Amino acid sequence: MIFVTGGAGFIGANFVVDWLTPGRAALDEPVLVIDSLTYAGNLANLAAVRGHCGLLFERRDICDGSAVLALLRRHRPRAVVHFAAESHVDRSILGPAEFVRTNIEGTFALLEAARAFVAELCGAERDAFRFLHVSTDEVYGSLSADDPPFSETTAYAPNSPYAASKAASDHLVRAYHHTYALPTLTTNCSNNYGPFQFPEKLIPLVVLHALEGKALPVYGDGQNVRDWLYVGDHCAAIRTVLERGRLGQTYNIGGRQELPNIAVVRAICVLLDELRPRRGGSYAQQITFVKDRPGHDRRYAIDCGKIERELGWLPTESFDSGLRKTIDWYLASADWIAQVRSGKYRDWIELQYGAHVASTAEGTAQVLARGEKGGSEQ
Ligand code: NAD
Ligand code: DAU
Repeated sequence: MIFVTGGAGFIGANFVVDWLTPGRAALDEPVLVIDSLTYAGNLANLAAVRGHCGLLFERRDICDGSAVLALLRRHRPRAVVHFAAESHVDRSILGPAEFVRTNIEGTFALLEAARAFVAELCGAERDAFRFLHVSTDEVYGSLSADDPPFSETTAYAPNSPYAASKAASDHLVRAYHHTYALPTLTTNCSNNYGPFQFPEKLIPLVVLHALEGKALPVYGDGQNVRDWLYVGDHCAAIRTVLERGRLGQTYNIGGRQELPNIAVVRAICVLLDELRPRRGGSYAQQITFVKDRPGHDRRYAIDCGKIERELGWLPTESFDSGLRKTIDWYLASADWIAQVRSGKYRDWIELQYGAHVASTAEGTAQVLARGEKGGSEQ
């Protein structure tokens, strides 16, 4: 069996569903999900494998190291795949404490539990054990337009409380390998998108706001660049690193799909124009430039040559094909959307965007007239 922390969140749930679904990864190996079910965790994300005899669930906080150690001793997994985290940069700017707690203290508690567990193993069981830490490209900081992409040897320079907390967790993982020979693997991935992404992140937020006639909020000048990877490709990369990665190594994962945010938002509008035509013209009329994110990193780009060369992983989705799949999924998932958009979700949207999202399609729209280079409207 394997343990998956954060397995009720966006990427973790995609990983678990793929792991247990025949025709996808179908590894025929049980999974124990450990998740405290924060606002971002949702058992509905695992509905496709509900009742599967290989799925176990424990509602636990990863900061509770003794509970995790007890689970390790009881189930004796061959691996811990660690997704659990506070993951939203904007929330880390408004409230960093929870990011320090879960991402740093929680990872520390897990590492300590894993270290104690591994010390009790011997022989083949000990050799087989892996602790795979799922991290982000944001630890490397920001690139300018002509900088080379981040490689595994790029110096860490995190710029948001989220990125700093993930960087700290990466350092702890590295230290536990170096000092205690804990069999660790670390992956640093670029922006994911796909089914089950909580609609506070750019792509699902824009899809839902478009359909509801609300403003599509683009921070700053919309020229910040991200590298986008379909979530199923990220999950496949993690499985590859888990099976064949070299101990103590880090692997960058990315889609080689660098796009400025405004291009992402426009691509969503074009697809929605085709799939759910809007009365009165394109959804792009709803695009609205809003105040920039404080400390907003300008560009991320990932050199994923190491995982390609050493482990033979390659993404299978282009941005166009992945985005179409994603939008199809949101269009077909009204129940899931209604469920995750609780009162707390509405409170967050109000806090983050204020009056901008209350606007109607007719009232907001301006960017087409101004062109892509238009500045912030605030
Ligand atoms: P998410 O916010 O959707 O899910 C996080 C999950 O962790 C939720 O199910 C939540 O309930 C759980 N969790 C949070 N705090 C916990 C705690 N203290 N104890 C137990 N469970 C807890 O996040 P995501 O987007 O799925 O990201 C998963 C991981 O991948 C994170 O570590 C993130 O840093 C990393 N990552 C994300 C992206 C991306 O684009 N989303 C890209 C690269 C790396
Ligand atoms: O790079 C990997 C990271 O990608 C992960 O580590 C994080 O967990 C994940 O949340 C994501 O971080 P970002 O900050 O890049 O994702 P987000 O979807 O919040 O924003 C993507 C870009 O879009 C970013 O440049 C900010 C911008 N943006 C975002 C929102 C929510 C907007 O312009 N408007 C918005 O309303």
